[in-house]
Amino acid sequence: MARAFDDLLGEADSAAVDGWDFSWLDGRATEQRPSWGYQRSMSRRLAAASSALDVQTGGGEVLAEAARFPPAMAATESWPPNLAQATRLLGPRGVVVVAAPDQRPLPFADAAFELVTSRHPATVRWGEIARVLAPGGTYFAQHVGPATAFELVEHFLGPQPEARRKRHPDDESAEAEAAGLAVVDVRCERLRMEFFDIGAVVYFLRKVIWTVPGFTVEGYRDALHALHQHIEREGSFVAHSSRTLFEARKPA
Ligand SMILES: C[S@@+](CC[C@H](N)C(=O)[O-])C[C@H]1O[C@@H](n2cnc3c(N)ncnc32)[C@H](O)[C@@H]1O
Repeated sequence: MARAFDDLLGEADSAAVDGWDFSWLDGRATEQRPSWGYQRSMSRRLAAASSALDVQTGGGEVLAEAARFPPAMAATESWPPNLAQATRLLGPRGVVVVAAPDQRPLPFADAAFELVTSRHPATVRWGEIARVLAPGGTYFAQHVGPATAFELVEHFLGPQPEARRKRHPDDESAEAEAAGLAVVDVRCERLRMEFFDIGAVVYFLRKVIWTVPGFTVEGYRDALHALHQHIEREGSFVAHSSRTLFEARKPA
């Protein structure tokens, strides 16, 4: 039997949303993965590097999947709950996790790293990435691409035509080149997201805080109820994300 609206809201509104693990959504929402397998490629590159930095590591869950780290391995994180979690997870494996606000220069010297990785950074500072890379070094990353979860965004906020192009791979490539990097690979895929109950939507919006800025259950109760009815009627709510794979090199 379908669970009641208020019951689903209450449960999702009180769930912990720190870390960057989405297993709470297992069986309640799905998100298609890009075809290129970022984690596998990241692990292979880390195993071959002598020094590396993972920018905005979150709770460290993605980086921790690597079987082997370079002799010098650092990660940055800005959000205190994630910083603590990443340190617990990665510290015992010799990774130095450094507190670094997203808007400030990276706390490392010029040319410090052979490899810089990042998955889903909230902000991308190409000038800083180029600065900390050693000559001949590589930036390898998966970014959140344009119009991600826009069906959800526009359900709650109404049409957002100007925001659609934000994070377009052509614009990001131009910014990388302007910072002095040569883009050697850029790929973008559009992927299916599906939510099977309103609690899954609430959990997602509380965790991915950029989707509907300032989201609260009370503030969006009517829009949540309309979405709940849609899910009851159709069986799910379908949205789409996009992901961009970047490989950029600093000239030797
Ligand atoms: C989207 S997360 C990606 C983390 C990690 N690289 C990964 O792919 O799993 C990027 C940044 O957003 C930050 N972040 C996530 N939730 C946040 C929140 N509620 N408030 C502030 N920053 C948050 C993370 O701590 C991290 O630095």
